[in-house]
Amino acid sequence: MKVLVIGSGGREHAIAYALNKSSKVDEIHAIPGNPGIAEFGTCHLGSVEDLDGILRFVEENHIDFTVIGPEVPLCMGLADLLEEHGHKVFGPRKFAATLEGSKAFSKDFMARHHIPTAAYKEVNSYQEAIDALKGFDYPVVVKADGLAAGKGVVICEDEQMAKDTLKEMMIEGSLDGAGSKVVLEEFLTGFECSLLCFTDGKTIVPMVSAKDHKQVYDGNKGPNTGGMGTVSPNPFMPSGMDEVMKKDILDPFIAGLKADGMDYRGVVFIGLMIENNKAKVLEFNVRFGDPEIQSILLRLDSDLFDIMYAVSTSTLDQVEVKWKDEHVACLVLASGGYPGSYEKGKVITGLKDVDEDIVIFHAGTAFKDDQVVTSGGRVLNICALGSSLEETREKVYKAADVIDFDGKYYRKDIGLM
Ligand code: AMP
Ligand code: GLY
Repeated sequence: MKVLVIGSGGREHAIAYALNKSSKVDEIHAIPGNPGIAEFGTCHLGSVEDLDGILRFVEENHIDFTVIGPEVPLCMGLADLLEEHGHKVFGPRKFAATLEGSKAFSKDFMARHHIPTAAYKEVNSYQEAIDALKGFDYPVVVKADGLAAGKGVVICEDEQMAKDTLKEMMIEGSLDGAGSKVVLEEFLTGFECSLLCFTDGKTIVPMVSAKDHKQVYDGNKGPNTGGMGTVSPNPFMPSGMDEVMKKDILDPFIAGLKADGMDYRGVVFIGLMIENNKAKVLEFNVRFGDPEIQSILLRLDSDLFDIMYAVSTSTLDQVEVKWKDEHVACLVLASGGYPGSYEKGKVITGLKDVDEDIVIFHAGTAFKDDQVVTSGGRVLNICALGSSLEETREKVYKAADVIDFDGKYYRKDIGLM
């Protein structure tokens, strides 16, 4: 099989790495890919948003199966376009991807199908938002409706902050079109975790748990990022939650997809807040979490291609999804300054000098004059498998010392908080 992976981050490198282990996969291609994927696959210039260009590539190169990594092409309808032309694809259709593409749509879906979530109000103008604020206590959560690359959610401590945030989003248009509609939401307390599942719209199979570390600094301080590191299993997950999540969230989610006629064949990443052994949904994402999936896939003990193919052909009930009873840590090496502004083009050294059992995924790197250089905020994901959290932490932090680039920054407390 010739498989195409769409995307260029650590998530796509991890997906390509796992697919490359399958005996059924003969060739890996990526658009645009990255220097890590280029070690075993072929990377092709192109944009993940150029849907026609991707279709043309699939047809000209006789690609058998396409895996879509990021949310933007999913929300633009790449899965629909490829399938309408007879190509197999992993990733939900555009209508289903609206569960991530519009917060208001997603909240309405939850309300309609009795999926527990924070109380909310959709507002379509600044004045409507100001009036609606009266119905909320503080802090209040202000969420831009559209995709905003992680910048669309602001927790507002008081009325002034809420008004300022709403003004920026709704009047000044700080998030391009994403904030012209807003969801105001009750602030939930508790313990946050993510649940990633494979689903073909009929069967839903949860993956092993993983813990992300969203804030940039140690001690969960500083601004939110895309994720500074993960460990799997999640050491803080209360026991006995599997049944609760199935009954309260996964079963109604599948019933909702059916009732609304949503063609959902891919992965759903459910952001949850857990308190007193009850889970409420913060958000749905229609793609793998990055860097959650880097940890999760290293624990997969089944063939990822078989699972993805079964998802795509609505036969997920016929494959077994098995996991290794081991631990994984994934540490993000970032460019100093991220998630604010940072410099690019710094030469990365030591990539080949780490211990043999370290797996490195490239997240924001590029080739320049035959050298690998930094090209993004999150640069590398250093991953290790082991029999305990402590062992995996030791391994990844040892490797983090060996690899170097100007401005290298990473959190020291992955897995501890
Ligand atoms: P979202 O993109 O909706 O997951 O929001 C991004 C982050 O904001 C989440 O990971 C939470 O940390 C936080 N957040 C979102 N909604 C709420 C809420 N209703 N209560 C508390 N925190 C929230
Ligand atoms: N790590 C969080 C995300 O992928 O959205």
